[in-house]
Amino acid sequence: MESAADLDAIDELRVFRERFTHSDSEPDLIYLDGNSLGRQPVEAKKVLELVVGAQWGERLIRGWNEGWLDIPLRVGNLIGELIGAADGEVILAENTSVCLFKLAVAKLKAQPSRTTIITTSDNFPSDIQVLHSAALNAGLGHIVRVIDTELSDDPMAALCEALDDSTALVSLSHVSYRSGWRWDLAEVNQAATKTGSSVLWDLSHSVGAIPIDVAASEVEVAVGCTYKYLNGGPGAPAFMYVRSDQNDLINPISGWFGSQDPFTFDPSSPAASDITRFLTGTPHVVSAALIQPGVEMLLDAGIDSVYRKSVQLSDRFIQLCDEQLGSLGFEVRSPINHVNRGSHVALFHPDAQAVGLALINEASIIPDFRPPDILRFGFAPLYTRFADVDATVDRIRELVMGGAIQRWQDKNPIVP
Ligand SMILES: Cc1ncc(COP(=O)(O)O)c(C=O)c1O
Repeated sequence: MESAADLDAIDELRVFRERFTHSDSEPDLIYLDGNSLGRQPVEAKKVLELVVGAQWGERLIRGWNEGWLDIPLRVGNLIGELIGAADGEVILAENTSVCLFKLAVAKLKAQPSRTTIITTSDNFPSDIQVLHSAALNAGLGHIVRVIDTELSDDPMAALCEALDDSTALVSLSHVSYRSGWRWDLAEVNQAATKTGSSVLWDLSHSVGAIPIDVAASEVEVAVGCTYKYLNGGPGAPAFMYVRSDQNDLINPISGWFGSQDPFTFDPSSPAASDITRFLTGTPHVVSAALIQPGVEMLLDAGIDSVYRKSVQLSDRFIQLCDEQLGSLGFEVRSPINHVNRGSHVALFHPDAQAVGLALINEASIIPDFRPPDILRFGFAPLYTRFADVDATVDRIRELVMGGAIQRWQDKNPIVP
């Protein structure tokens, strides 16, 4: 195995690390939770100063005519560039759960003769809740079928077996929040199309880490988080992708910002004909503006380079875990083949939560814990070093051998 120092020295992305904020009080912090909340781009502070300081502070309501109204679409277009969408096909709104609800109901209503929604047990819990809610609120008697892919060696085969001519909609996370399993977008879309159904994708755990080409993969509709690998900040709005030919889709939560001209203040104003019809109320100007720096950095870096490093980092972590942690009860629970994996790795241990707390509190290393027994390690290539990977595995071994599990066993933080 090549030395981490050598790999860091020749890393073409190493310059990007300095474009993120690093705390003076924790200069050695190893942050491996960018798959949950990305680091802060340095540029974000300038954007905040502009939007809150100069624009809100001085220009007040005039800000709406000086750029605020364009933000959902302008930043949406940048995300579109990252995922192979055309201008006008991506827009920022609310959060991933609400965006998923809007597009799920829209898709169900466009397909009224079919009754089943298919998703998988490893989908994000909120997505599954939202799909149940969409089924209820579409008012067409849909049922949600959750297929168990966690125990399946071949999730694609399990999915194909479930698809039939009653399937209205398939809704999947491109990369599973837990195991890191990654679907092949094009393969799933083609299988669904053959049965006359549609797929609604959640790109939260892949956008900004994995190359996505929505056009080439024939994605019709998708949503995604902006606060993970896009580094948009806590609670940043989500994005919706609606392919430009999806004209029959109607926003189920219509409101003034989705109408043709919100400023006629006319409740019978027709829905906009472009993607802005999926807006409802006032855009989240401040947090939406903060998304731009992170997306621009990814565009500068190039998603292919980002992905190349993601694979190197996560493959290295998996190999080191196998070599050094197997005898201590750890087991990698993510796909070993990177073709089937996102940019995070799930590591099983019966006392995973205690190990995670020891890493955070005794070693300045931040992974996250997903109950009951999984630690997730997210490798955000723009700021993670090869040396971070080696140090993490070393510290896990040292902590466990030094009795850390006993020290942290009964502690339960609110956010795991
Ligand atoms: C895959 C996935 N989908 C949806 C969500 C929920 O996003 P939001 O809270 O923005 O609705 C998350 C949150 O982490 C997620 O990981």
